[in-house]
Amino acid sequence: MTATKAARPARLVLGIETSCDETAAAVVEDGVRVRSSVVATQHELHEEYGGVVPEIASRAHLERILPVVRRAIAEADLRLEDLDAVAVGHRPGLIGALLVGTSAAKGLALALDIPLVGVDHVHAHLVAGMLEREPPALPALGLVASGGHSSIYLVEDPIHPRLLGRTIDDAIGEAFDKVAAMLDLGHPGGPAVERLAASGDANAFTLPVANLGRTSLDFSFSGLKTAVLYAARGQPGRTPPVLDDRRRADLAASFQAAAIKALRRNLRRAFEAHPGIRSLLVGGGVTANTAIRTMLETECGAREIECRLPPLEWCVDNAAMIAALGDRRLSAGERDELELAPAATTRSDAGSA
Ligand code: KG4
Ligand code: ZN
Repeated sequence: MTATKAARPARLVLGIETSCDETAAAVVEDGVRVRSSVVATQHELHEEYGGVVPEIASRAHLERILPVVRRAIAEADLRLEDLDAVAVGHRPGLIGALLVGTSAAKGLALALDIPLVGVDHVHAHLVAGMLEREPPALPALGLVASGGHSSIYLVEDPIHPRLLGRTIDDAIGEAFDKVAAMLDLGHPGGPAVERLAASGDANAFTLPVANLGRTSLDFSFSGLKTAVLYAARGQPGRTPPVLDDRRRADLAASFQAAAIKALRRNLRRAFEAHPGIRSLLVGGGVTANTAIRTMLETECGAREIECRLPPLEWCVDNAAMIAALGDRRLSAGERDELELAPAATTRSDAGSA
């Protein structure tokens, strides 16, 4: 008779995400299998203001957090008592919004007497492409392009990615959102700019792509944004241009091409500076953009490395990525106490390394 090895029980981690304008909860099994992922967006609440209003976001998180957690548990076909740990995105983000998620996570960890782990939201974006997949080949480069971040990382260990470059002003998603506002496309603007750009000529406008130094991996999108503003509304004191539908599409396409150029140039520099990179980890709402995804796949294809593009639902803010990174911290023997505090910024990312 052959001895059968007792199967190790799966570890079930509840992830909670409330850093900006999505209230999300998910259950992830053993760090990779997504048992449920629930995201309640607040886009409709912020649309008339053209951007996320922090007080409105906090209040909406408060109203939604418990129903969203309950739904994530129900969709995973579990009871709260089945959970092994709670992971929460506790930085960076809107402080009032983060407070809602961290308070809920602490309450659950205390009531269920299970470990609590705090997770960096931006670092979590980098593990979104590891969900439901085999682990990627490391070391990897990581690119997070979202409404709050445009950062390049060196990833030898996903728990401690090393920041190589970041934006010194606007995030790329912020630039998409502001350009959308200039073109009266509504909020969030990224998908609307992408749709309009599809019918435009990317060479119609010459727009600046900031270069912060020959080897710099930092980004700057504010000059590009101002150039689009002048093209759309005219320079101060001059007669505003007439933008018909075709010119608006041309401007959206030219802006998107310039933003992609900045990403591609810095990625190429990062690949050059770090030979031996074996894969590219990608995350953040902006990487839902088809033209950006195509560029990333082309760059990886040219280097014969794997491009870990998450499916669209895990590019944008979600709690499955939070649970996945939380599980990795637990596996490494890390956890947090109930004193875990939310933080608006990521301290280790404050300066580029
Ligand atoms: O990662 P995410 O959901 O939230 C943050 O952590 O910021 O990213 C949201 C950002 C917004 O700026 C939104 O306009 C942008 O991602 N975005 C896009 C697209 N879909 C979402 N930007 C460009 N093209 C898209 N298809
Ligand atoms: Zn995000």
